[in-house]
Amino acid sequence: MTSERILLEVDDLRTRYPVRRPIADRLARRPRQWVRAVDGVSFSLRRGEMVALVGESGCGKTSTAQTILRMVEATGGTITVDGQDITTMSQRRLRPLRRGIQMVYQDPYESLDPRFRVRQTVEEPLLVHGIGTSKSEREELISSALERAGLAPASLYLNRYPHELSGGQRQRVAIAAALALDPVLLLADEPVSMLDVSVRAGVLSLLDGLRRDGRLGVLMITHDLSTAAHFADRIAVMYLGRIVEYGPARQVVTDPRHPYTKALLSVVPNRDPRVRNVAQILSGETPNPIAIPAGCRFRPRCPIAEASCADVDPVLGPPGSAGSGRGGSASGGSASGGWAGHEVACLLA
Ligand SMILES: Nc1ncnc2c1ncn2[C@@H]1O[C@H](COP(=O)(O)OP(=O)(O)O)[C@@H](O)[C@H]1O
Ligand code: SF4
Ligand SMILES: [Mg+2]
Repeated sequence: MTSERILLEVDDLRTRYPVRRPIADRLARRPRQWVRAVDGVSFSLRRGEMVALVGESGCGKTSTAQTILRMVEATGGTITVDGQDITTMSQRRLRPLRRGIQMVYQDPYESLDPRFRVRQTVEEPLLVHGIGTSKSEREELISSALERAGLAPASLYLNRYPHELSGGQRQRVAIAAALALDPVLLLADEPVSMLDVSVRAGVLSLLDGLRRDGRLGVLMITHDLSTAAHFADRIAVMYLGRIVEYGPARQVVTDPRHPYTKALLSVVPNRDPRVRNVAQILSGETPNPIAIPAGCRFRPRCPIAEASCADVDPVLGPPGSAGSGRGGSASGGSASGGWAGHEVACLLA
């Protein structure tokens, strides 16, 4: 059951990367351009909860996770973990907290060192963080992490090299290496997209099970809305650096309000053969985080845009509130009148 304690709170997070300037631009003193990869993202995540961050490639999902992890520095906004603002915390103070925030990467073929046996892979983070005073104590922690990740009995796997494992097993080893540190927050960046379809559900069920004891929260990054709908409690739909719709997973997929979410859902095959989706192909320019349109950022591709959409940058909120001031905080609990935290950033929703 989801605990009410908020584990992660991200407020108006911004991350930008400099665009490399050709020498001619520098000589002509043309202003530097920026990729606004994360452009005002707000959401929260409770213990025991899985929130899915969903959006097409390039919308800023990985940058959001990397910024939360402080692998990339935020250019604005705040990140609060377990009540502590870590946005600009020094690396020394951050170190013990970093242990509690672990990332699971997309590609277990890249994230595991091919020269390391499973034992060494899971032991490495323990050594880095000085956990386990003796070899035998660490051995116990390694075995328990492997078994929590579904690799049981651990003795079967300890001495294997990555090339002796399947893709699914490799990803479980990577998850075990994260679990060995007893994290409170797992950031899973497209954790099954490189895996064989037959093992995906198993790995997703593992992540789902891990958060159900209520201690750990999972931010699941995916481009697949049906995966999000199946496993997550809440879904945050991201477009061009911003969350444009957020709410309880079921509500977002059964009653989508943002035209972008509707378009994403229209291409998800429906399990009910009587229901036929009409795929809505988005036309217009490919979104470009270097030149985010004024007004609503979705306007160039929006099938229902009106003139006012060019003037107002809609914020996340209950329907009808998007045009008024800042306040896009996907808190999941601010709405009333039956919305139960379902929020949308669209002037016409
Ligand atoms: N290190 C970087 N330097 C410059 N641009 C980057 C960097 N990392 C990501 N980007 C750009 O930022 C945008 C968001 O990327 P990313 O966060 O990887 O999106 P996603 O994970 O949703 O595919 C993209 O336009 C990408 O090209
Ligand atoms: S605000 Fe306007 S352009 Fe933006 S999604 Fe809504 S209708 Fe479309
Ligand atoms: Mg990514």
